[in-house]
Amino acid sequence: MTASEPQTVQALLAWYEAMGVDEAIGEAPVDCFAALPLELSGPEPLFQPRGVAKPPRPSVVAARPAATASLVDRSAIGQASSLAELEALVAAFEGCALKRTAKSLCFARGNQKARIMLIGEAPGRDEDLQGKPFLGRAGQLLDRMLAAIGLAESQVYITNTIYWRPPGNRTPTPQEVEACAPFLARQIELLSPDVLVLLGGAAAKSILGTSEGIMRLRGKWLTYQCAGRSIATLATLHPAYLLRKPEEKRYAWRDLLMVKEALVPK
Ligand code: URA
Repeated sequence: MTASEPQTVQALLAWYEAMGVDEAIGEAPVDCFAALPLELSGPEPLFQPRGVAKPPRPSVVAARPAATASLVDRSAIGQASSLAELEALVAAFEGCALKRTAKSLCFARGNQKARIMLIGEAPGRDEDLQGKPFLGRAGQLLDRMLAAIGLAESQVYITNTIYWRPPGNRTPTPQEVEACAPFLARQIELLSPDVLVLLGGAAAKSILGTSEGIMRLRGKWLTYQCAGRSIATLATLHPAYLLRKPEEKRYAWRDLLMVKEALVPK
């Protein structure tokens, strides 16, 4: 068998995958965004309405300035009157560079009428491949944790602080979180849950705007103000952390029991 035979190549790829190599990365760093063309007359619109053909690009190009949250059309986000409309806006949004390296948009999974909304950090490889949050090992643990307090997928709504996978599962940058934050705020407003659960420090930081560590924040009821409502909010440990530190599951269990209690109709 020679190195170029399909079986050899397949075996090599399978071995790479088993070793955790799931990205095609070269020896030298490549700035994939540096060469992106841009019309000199101004930046590309952040929203590209469906069905509207993009005008042809002129041949003169210049470096693209980084899109920031301040360029987000906040009024369009505020006017989204359903989660489906909001998802379409996220899909058309060009202000988060992760969109260009991710395979899929991971907007949410679960029930849009759920009373409980859970927010994690960022999609990983499995989520990126399948286009939904929390499908990998951490997601499977999350499903088991929810099942332990009697909640099925049809009773919860799950999303993340950002909607695209960061390359190599790196931590999202503050700019990436900030770019997605107005969408997430509207997502909470539209779902309007009775209980909000923040999975891990990144979600707690983004939603509560605090730099307090998750160990100090977890296990107590907080409030998230949204459209004139105070939503009961609980921060807890992230399932990916619990996979690494199973001995800490007892804290998450206490938090889950608080959630269960809060969902009992009074
Ligand atoms: N998968 C997600 O969708 N979010 C996380 O925070 C971790 C894994």
